[in-house]
Amino acid sequence: MPTEFKLNTGAEIPAIGFGTWQDEQAQEDAVTEALKVGYRHIDTARVYLTEKAVGKAIKRSGIPRQELFITTKLWNNKHHPDDVAPALQQSLNDLELDYVDLYLIHWPVAWKRGDELFPKKNGNMILEDIDIVDTYKAMEKLLDTGKVKAIGVSNFSKAEMERLLKETSVVPAVHQMECHPWLQQRGISFTDRRARLEKLINEPVLAEVGKQYDKSAPQVTLAWGVTQGHSVLPKSKTPSRIQSNLKGDFRLGPRDMEKIRYIDKKLRFNDSSGEFGRDFFTDLEGK
Ligand SMILES: NC(=O)c1ccc[n+]([C@@H]2O[C@H](COP(=O)([O-])OP(=O)(O)OC[C@H]3O[C@@H](n4cnc5c(N)ncnc54)[C@H](OP(=O)(O)O)[C@@H]3O)[C@@H](O)[C@H]2O)c1
Repeated sequence: MPTEFKLNTGAEIPAIGFGTWQDEQAQEDAVTEALKVGYRHIDTARVYLTEKAVGKAIKRSGIPRQELFITTKLWNNKHHPDDVAPALQQSLNDLELDYVDLYLIHWPVAWKRGDELFPKKNGNMILEDIDIVDTYKAMEKLLDTGKVKAIGVSNFSKAEMERLLKETSVVPAVHQMECHPWLQQRGISFTDRRARLEKLINEPVLAEVGKQYDKSAPQVTLAWGVTQGHSVLPKSKTPSRIQSNLKGDFRLGPRDMEKIRYIDKKLRFNDSSGEFGRDFFTDLEGK
């Protein structure tokens, strides 16, 4: 049985989710393949431009909606409270769905309102003065519409998360952030993570640990997250990898977890700070 974790809403989230960032053109086939081999959790976002492809693949699969867990994310140009519900509706239209299982604030930064995904002036992002607390309160209201089953955040710092917990009433069901054996962030509690498979493929400790389980370094990377009770989001457009990543759904023993603990490099690969017009992750590791 595939591993699932219980969210604070009571819903189950499959431990292995299928990532859909990058290679937009390949995503309809990739998601179709993923659903065929058994993935039931798909991660997309408005800005990935893959919602339509995900929607088509879901339709093609014929899998009943209730068997799927679909996540999408609010982009930075739609943080104004009045824009949140229409932004969700655009995503639902492209996904051809009535609801998503999880809706996340993608980044804690607000950009100019409108339909431009990357609104710039003189090469810099045009920021908008909108408080993330107000955006999140608009997300909370979506829960009453039935169009989102759970809400959460992504790429928040510790301070941003603490403020949210203090000033709003719905505890985020998920905090999606970069985390892997080279950026372990011990002591931080969160629910969802990303794996960085292509970077960790040559890490000898992961390959060594994998031998006992007959698993590869990428599979061990995924299992490392699953063992800690977090869902992981491998992305691939390659059928053999789509299939093998799903077999990262297993648990590592405590000794192997201990070995992996020592390979932490506090190395963050994805920090859009300069480019996005704000400094992110200021109180987190890998800065
Ligand atoms: N919330 C956020 O801000 C945010 C940011 C980044 C990512 N994400 C989510 O997390 C997902 C995963 O992101 P990630 O950065 O961790 O990427 P990833 O899953 O590590 O995958 C990216 C690359 O790894 C390759 N790959 C996949 N499986 C492999 C394997 N078994 N062996 C070797 N290479 C492999 C893929 O190649 P091929 O496709 O060519 O096979 C692709 O080039 C994204 O798709 C997205 O859904 C969210």
